[in-house]
Amino acid sequence: LSVKKELEKILITAPSPEFEHTKKDLDGFRKLFHRFLQEKGPSVDWGKIQRPPEDSIQPYEKIKARGLPDNISSVLNKLVVVKLNGGLGTSMGCKGPKSLIGVRNENTFLDLTVQQIEHLNKTYNTDVPLVLMNSFNTDEDTKKILQKYSHCRVKIYTFNQSRYPRINKESLLPVAKDVSYSGENTEAWYPPGHGDIYASFYNSGLLDIFIGEGKEYIFVSNIDNLGATVDLYILNHLMNPPNGKPCEFVMEVTNKTRADVKGGTLTQYEGKLRLVEIAQVPKAHVDEFKSVSKFKIFNTNNLWISLAAVKRLQEQNAIDMEIIVNPKTLDGGLNVIQLETAVGAAIKSFENSLGINVPRSRFLPVKTTSDLLLVMSNLYSLNAGSLTMSEKREFPTVPLVKLGSSFTKVQDYLRRFESIPDMLELDHLTVSGDVTFGKNVSLKGTVIIIANHGDRIDIPPGAVLENKIVSGNLRI
Ligand code: UTP
Repeated sequence: LSVKKELEKILITAPSPEFEHTKKDLDGFRKLFHRFLQEKGPSVDWGKIQRPPEDSIQPYEKIKARGLPDNISSVLNKLVVVKLNGGLGTSMGCKGPKSLIGVRNENTFLDLTVQQIEHLNKTYNTDVPLVLMNSFNTDEDTKKILQKYSHCRVKIYTFNQSRYPRINKESLLPVAKDVSYSGENTEAWYPPGHGDIYASFYNSGLLDIFIGEGKEYIFVSNIDNLGATVDLYILNHLMNPPNGKPCEFVMEVTNKTRADVKGGTLTQYEGKLRLVEIAQVPKAHVDEFKSVSKFKIFNTNNLWISLAAVKRLQEQNAIDMEIIVNPKTLDGGLNVIQLETAVGAAIKSFENSLGINVPRSRFLPVKTTSDLLLVMSNLYSLNAGSLTMSEKREFPTVPLVKLGSSFTKVQDYLRRFESIPDMLELDHLTVSGDVTFGKNVSLKGTVIIIANHGDRIDIPPGAVLENKIVSGNLRI
C-alpha cells in the first residue's frame, strides 16, 4: 500500500505532456512489483525440467535444406527487424548508447545494422523496416544520429521502453521522489530489461500499424550481436510451415562451449518449451546446469515472433515472464533492487514454439574490448554490414582473447594498439598490465604478455610473436 502512495506522489509531479506515459510506466511497474511480493520460492521446480523432445529444437541445416521460395521479396515484406537498443556502453567505459560505439572501420553497431538491412532491401527490392527499442537512457542520442540514415533505403522507427523506479532494498520503497531523471534522481530509474518489448511495442501503436501493413513476424535481437542478420531460410520456414501449423515463436540457440556457462538454456517444462536462466537454478544443481553435456545449447536472443500472437497474448495479459531481481549499489552506496524481465522467457506463452540450433556465427556479441579486438581484426571481413570469418583462417574457431583491466575502456584499448595486430593464426592471447602494441604486429599460437606493476611493455612495430610469453623482466 505504501508503495502505491509513493508512486502516486511521484506521478503528480509529472508535467502534463509526460503524464500519460508516466502513468502507464508506473502502472506497469506496480503490477510487476505486486507479482514480486506475491511470488515465493523458486520460479522453476528442478524436478520438472526435461530435455526438449527431438523435433522441438531443429538443426539449422534441416531448415536450410528446405531451400528458398521464388517469392523471397513477398516473404521479406512481411518481416520487421527489431533491435534491442535500451542499453548503454558503460561496461566498455563509454557514455551514451552502446549501439553508437565504433566497432569496425569507424562503423558503429547501428551503422552495421542499417547497412545490413539496406543491402537486403536493395538486393530483393523490398522495404524491410528497422525498429529500435530505445530506453530513456538511449532515446535522445539515438534519435540525433538517425538523421544520418535519412537517405538510406531503410525506414527506421523507434519506440521507447518503460522507465521504472528503482527500489530501496531495505524499505522496498521507490528511491525517486519525483519523475525527473536528472540531478539527484539520475540513478533512481531503470529500463526493466528487454522483456519489456511486448508491452512497450504494443503501447507504442507500432504493433497495430505493422499488422495493418500486412507484416507477420518480427526478428528481434541484441544490437550488440553482430551475427544477428536476417536469415532467409528461417524466415521461409516460418512463412511456409512444413506441417501447415504456424509457429509463433522461434528461438535461435547454439551449441554451448565451456566459455558459455552463463547463457539460458531451452528445456521442456510442463509440456512446453521453456527458457531456464542460471539465476533460476537451485544452488545444488548449478554445476549440472553449466554442464555442456546435459544442457547442450544456449539462447542467442535472436528471436522470431508472430506479430498477431504478440497482439493476442498482450490483450489477454497472457505473456508470462519470470521476474529477474537485479541488485545494484548506487554511487552513494545505497542498495537497491530493480525488477526485470527477459524477452526470451515469454517463449512458453506462445503456441507451437521452436528452437533452431544455428551455427555459432549467428552469435557474435561484443560485450568487452576483448570481443572488440576480435571483430576489428583480420579474422573477419566486412561485407554489406555483415562480418564473416576470414577464409584465410585455417580453423573456424575464434581465438580466446583476455585483455586486462588497462584495456577495459574503449578509449584506453584504442590508445594501446597503434594498429590491430594480425590474428589469423592466433589461438590464445592474454594481456595484463601496462602493455602497448606498435604497428603491424603479428600474433600466432599462444601469446601471453604480462607487464608487472610499475613496468611497461611496448611490443615494437612489426614484431612477430609466436607461442611466446613476454613479461616485465623475462623474455622467452
Ligand atoms: P545486455 O547486454 O544488458 O544483456 O542486453 P546481456 O547480459 O548481454 O544478455 P541478456 O540478453 O540480457 O541475457 C542485451 C541487449 O538488450 C538490450 C541491450 O541494449 C542489448 O542490445 N536491452 C537490455 C534493452 O534494450 N533494454 C533493457 O532494459 C536491457
